[in-house]
Amino acid sequence: MSKSIKLAILGLGTVGTGVINLINDNLAELKRRSGRDIIITEVGTRRQRDDIDPTIMQNSDLMAIAASDNVDIVIEVIGGTTLAKDIITHAIKHGKHVVTANKALLAEHGNEIFALAEAHNVHVAYEAAVAGGIPIIKVMREALAANKIDWLAGIINGTGNFIMTEMRDTGRPFADVLAEAQALGYAEADPTFDVEGIDAAHKLALLASIAFGMPLQFDKVYCEGITEITLQDVNYAEQLGYRIKHVGFAVRRTNAEGEEGIELRVHPTLIPQNALLANVNGVKNAVLVNSHPLGQTLYYGDGAGAGATASAVMADVMDLVRVLGCERSDSNAQSNTDAYSQKGQIGHHVPHLSFMPEQLSNTPILRAEQMITGYYLRVHAYDNPGVLADITRILSDAGINIDAILQKPAHKVGQVPVIILTLPVVESQMNLAIEKIQNLAAVTDKVVRIRLDELA
Ligand code: HSE
Repeated sequence: MSKSIKLAILGLGTVGTGVINLINDNLAELKRRSGRDIIITEVGTRRQRDDIDPTIMQNSDLMAIAASDNVDIVIEVIGGTTLAKDIITHAIKHGKHVVTANKALLAEHGNEIFALAEAHNVHVAYEAAVAGGIPIIKVMREALAANKIDWLAGIINGTGNFIMTEMRDTGRPFADVLAEAQALGYAEADPTFDVEGIDAAHKLALLASIAFGMPLQFDKVYCEGITEITLQDVNYAEQLGYRIKHVGFAVRRTNAEGEEGIELRVHPTLIPQNALLANVNGVKNAVLVNSHPLGQTLYYGDGAGAGATASAVMADVMDLVRVLGCERSDSNAQSNTDAYSQKGQIGHHVPHLSFMPEQLSNTPILRAEQMITGYYLRVHAYDNPGVLADITRILSDAGINIDAILQKPAHKVGQVPVIILTLPVVESQMNLAIEKIQNLAAVTDKVVRIRLDELA
C-alpha cells in the first residue's frame, strides 16, 4: 500500500468524536476505497483524554498541529470564527489541505480563505458544513455541473426542523424540545444560531454561491428564525392544507427593470402538505434543486448529529486522499499551460465554489422589499360588522389576491381570529397593506405574517 495519509483532528466534541468512531468502525473500507492507510496522528484537545488511542498525539497547541510535519490533512471541527480562522489560515500557509464543518467561518470569511487556499495550492473542503450527512456540496459542485440552477429550497437546520416537528406532532413546548436537540448533539454551541435562522443563513450563503457562481454574501441573506411561531399558527396552517417549515431559498429572478437578481432568504414558510419538503421531519434536512435541463431533484438525510457529520467530513478526506496521491505521482501537471492548473495539481480538483475563481459574478442580491412570496396573515379583531370587509378591501386596493380565508369563532369575548392566505406579492406592497390593517380600529393584536411558498 502507498504512503499513509496522516490526519489531525482539531476539536473532540460531537463531530470530532464522531470522526474518530467512523474511522475505527470503517477503516478497512476506507483503505480499500482509497488504496491508502489512513491514520490519525494528532488530535487537538484542551485537556488530555484517556479514551483516545495512546498512539495518537494529544496536543492543546492547535496552531502547532496545523503546521506539523506529521499531518497531511487538518480536520477543523472546533467551530467559531476566531481561533478556527487562525488555525485554518496557519494550516493553509503550511501547505495543509483542510476539511471543515465550519459554516459560520466559511459564510463570513470564505472568500478570503478560499483565495488563500488557491494561492497556496491546497484545498479547503466543507461538505460537512451544509446539511449534515447529505452530500449536497458534492452534488452541486460535481453532479449538477452541466446544469444552470434556477432555484433551490432547503430545510437546512436540523435543530429547527426537529423543534417544528415535535411542536406540531406532540404539542411540546419550544424550550423543552430545544433542550432535547442540544442533548442529542444537534444544536450549535450557541443554539440561538439554530432558532434565529443564522445557521441556516450561513448554509444558504454557501449553497447559493455554488449554485450561481458568485462570491459568498452572507450579510445579504434575509434571515428570520422560528422563535415567534406559535402552536396556534401551526394548527391553522394545517387546517388550510399547509405546514410551517423553516426553509432557505436561493432564487434567480428577473426584476421589473429586467435585471437578473438573486433572492436569498431563510424564514418560516407555509408549504402545501403534499409538497416533498413538507414531509421532511425531525432532524432530517432536504434540499430541492431546480436546474436546467435536469429539472427538480431532491436530496434528503440527517442534517445534524455525530454520524451524519462525520460521514461528510470523511467523504472530503477521501477526496483529498486522491488529490494527495495526484500531487505525488502526476509529473505532467507542472507543464500544463492552463492558468488554473498552473497553480498546481489542486487545479485538478473542482474549484471551491464550483466555478472558476475568476469567473465568479457579482449578480445583485435582491433587497427584502423586492422579494416575492405569498403570505399567511392572522388578524385578531373585534367581532364587529364590516371588519372582514375592511381587511379584504385594503388587500384588494393594494392589488393583493386572496387565495383562502378562514374566520374562527370568537376565541376571546368579542374577538375573532381571521386567517388569510394570499397569492404571491412583492414584499413592499404587503408591508404597506399590513400597516393599514394594523391601523384599523377593530384590530386588537399585532398582525401575524408568515410567508407562503408554493415552489417548495
Ligand atoms: N446545528 C446544526 C443543525 C448542526 O441543527 O442543523 C448541523 O449543521
